[in-house]
Amino acid sequence: MKFFIDTANLAQIQEANDLGVLDGVTTNPSLMAKEGIKGEENVKAHYVKICNIVDGPVSAEVISTDYEGMIREGKELANLHPNIVVKVPCTKDGIKAVKYFSSNGIRTNCTLIFSVGQALLAAKAGATYVSPFVGRLDDICSDGVELVGQIVEMFNIYGYPTEVLAASIRSSQHIIDCVAVGADVATCPLSAILGLLKHPLTDSGLAQFLLDYKKVQE
Ligand code: E4P
Repeated sequence: MKFFIDTANLAQIQEANDLGVLDGVTTNPSLMAKEGIKGEENVKAHYVKICNIVDGPVSAEVISTDYEGMIREGKELANLHPNIVVKVPCTKDGIKAVKYFSSNGIRTNCTLIFSVGQALLAAKAGATYVSPFVGRLDDICSDGVELVGQIVEMFNIYGYPTEVLAASIRSSQHIIDCVAVGADVATCPLSAILGLLKHPLTDSGLAQFLLDYKKVQE
């Protein structure tokens, strides 16, 4: 499974990258706003900064909701850096835009996916990734991980090359659950990635090893 970090915070991106297990980054307008990035030029400059940290796909989301606007914006974003993947919402105009981008060699992440049908349309349009939102489905008493599994199964049956990028991950357990259903990628907060490291037996085992090492030094 590939790990993307789901943030626009440069320090966290650097920390995850330094860990040596980071494959890419996803952002969205809310994450950019959280970092106080304002204005088109600042937003673009921020994407370039992220691309210069991580040697992998960096999702940058279009703001336009109409087809022409998405195409114009997507081209501008794709021109910023070879790492950029254009993130497009799963709407009627969005699917048309995904088709345009895939036909013109621009990689896409079709976002705000909440059903198998939406993932099917995105895959048929040639999306590089589809992003089912696990946490937001769980928030409304639906099963986000189950949807990830259904999409993985559908893509396997029909041989779609589109990758399933589990998004809206809220915990380390979400990551493990997405592994179990075969997600290609999980995009996660840094805390969920670091949470995978935690085990009390690792801590107590290491403490005991260090204690015993000291004994033989005396
Ligand atoms: C990433 O691509 C998504 O935009 C993000 O994971 C959404 O996460 P949230 O539901 O926690 O806002």
